[in-house]
Amino acid sequence: MSRSRPNRVLVTGGAGFIGSNFVRHVLDSDPEAEVVNLDLLTYAGQLSSLEDVSEEHGAEGDGRYFFVQGDVRDTGLLKSVLRGDAREGPAGGRSGRLAPPPDAVVHLAAESHVDRSLLAPRTFVETNVQGTVALMEACRLAAPGRLRILHVSTDEVYGNLEPGAAPFTEQSPLRPRSPYAASKAAAELMIGSYASWADLPAVIVRCSNTYGPHQYPEKLIPLMITRALQHRALPVYGDGRQRRDWLHVDDLVRALWRVLCDGRSGQTYNVGGGVERPNLEVVRSILDLLERPATLIEHVEDRPGHDARYALDIGKVGAELGWQPRVPFEAGLAHTVSWYVQNEDWWRPLIERAYRTAEELYLGSPFPK
Ligand code: NAD
Ligand code: TYD
Repeated sequence: MSRSRPNRVLVTGGAGFIGSNFVRHVLDSDPEAEVVNLDLLTYAGQLSSLEDVSEEHGAEGDGRYFFVQGDVRDTGLLKSVLRGDAREGPAGGRSGRLAPPPDAVVHLAAESHVDRSLLAPRTFVETNVQGTVALMEACRLAAPGRLRILHVSTDEVYGNLEPGAAPFTEQSPLRPRSPYAASKAAAELMIGSYASWADLPAVIVRCSNTYGPHQYPEKLIPLMITRALQHRALPVYGDGRQRRDWLHVDDLVRALWRVLCDGRSGQTYNVGGGVERPNLEVVRSILDLLERPATLIEHVEDRPGHDARYALDIGKVGAELGWQPRVPFEAGLAHTVSWYVQNEDWWRPLIERAYRTAEELYLGSPFPK
């Protein structure tokens, strides 16, 4: 049982994959909670992921869900959200409901795709580093000492794990190897600095590769499902023997709420699924579930600097907070595949307006030399 459940939570990036699942989880699991979602709605943010939440909990429902469209890099807007004088709708709007002042912040807004970070690294610094600093500035200036802050980071900050080596613990050194991972590590260090000089401690979760409904179809699992459904080639980077630790989003959002409520300030918690799988095996399982032929698999040029393996030691979050993953990978994958089969209305428009087609991005020679 939680010691200190927040009442009003600001979620940055709440229209993204993890954010939309987290917003739904908080509103469904705590009938008292209110959620303010601040999201810029980049290519990765979809209000269609929150239609049910909006109906049930928005202005026409029980009134506990608020959406403010804005940029996490805008400290002025964030201060106004933290003080409770921002209105729903586009930033600066005057007609929506006033969003209530939060007592907790869950920071998810980010550029999140490694491949894009190789093509446009500056955007990752702007959103992931400057956005985090802007948020911490707003917390310091508008709500000193009042907020619980949870920053969502990634296992990629640890860099590549050698074959046979023990999984990363929270004490493992930070050795990020892609611009995405480096921007997430920089954001963590900035947060650490605010704990020292501004007495603004946050809790950090480093989570592993997450999958489930409403994930933008550029990440491995939804990309492969949606392409297989279209009978299109499945681009596996290199030999496909790289390994990831897979975590179902339902397990992750439960962990985030648990850590937000009871995690110790200033601490970092690894949150992983404890399931390592080679990419090729994941892709083959998707093809089996969809009854599509293995001939769809196409081995393409490897991602430069591709981390061969990630795996997390999740002993700390288990011992301190009693969290364990519950969704077995095979069941989670089967459920995710069925979700994409049944929700083509959600993903089809995203593919059609993608800024580069998968053919250009993955099947040509996507990475600049
Ligand atoms: P996502 O790309 O699906 O969503 C990101 C969201 O942030 C989108 O809704 C987007 O509109 C919003 N956003 C982007 N720039 C913004 C800005 N300047 N201002 C406001 N909103 C902005 O990402 P995700 O997969 O849900 O990941 C969420 C967080 O979790 C990220 O911080 C990511 O680094 C971290 N994470 C993700 C994974 C994973 O496997 N998906 C694993 C570890 C950590
Ligand atoms: P991804 O979902 O991009 O997550 P991350 O790179 O952050 O781990 O990729 C997961 C793994 O799948 C990674 O090893 C790269 C690989 N991959 C492919 O083989 N083909 C693809 O088209 C994509 C997007 C990823």
